[in-house]
Amino acid sequence: MVSRISILLACVVGVCSASTDTLPNNFPILNRAGTVATFSADGFVNLDNKFHSPVGANGRACESCHLPQTGWTSPRSQEREDLVAFLQAP
Ligand code: HEC
Repeated sequence: MVSRISILLACVVGVCSASTDTLPNNFPILNRAGTVATFSADGFVNLDNKFHSPVGANGRACESCHLPQTGWTSPRSQEREDLVAFLQAP
């Protein structure tokens, strides 16, 4: 699901990647602190590896909880995101 959303956002701003299973490097994803982006030395973020594939019977993938909005980190990073937003507030 994240893959499709990411691809849709990428296409909306005119930076569709050649593959539908990749996200361009430094593509801004909105979050409550502003934006976050991912960079890979491969030149793009691969959305077609095991991290993004369903594991087990419940259909969840790692990305179901480790979202691009929080840099793929722990869902608890929402707390860190809130702190950054607070520190950056005027
Ligand atoms: C159902 C939600 C969920 C799924 C699915 C999930 N995780 Fe997590 N993961 C969490 C939560 C919540 C934490 C934080 C746990 C804590 O802080 O005690 C975490 C923590 C982690 C951490 C520790 C570092 C960090 O970011 O805090 C790693 C590494 C990790 N997960 C990898 C994975 C991988 C790899 C997969 C897929 C095989 C995966 N997770 C799937 C919820 C999930």
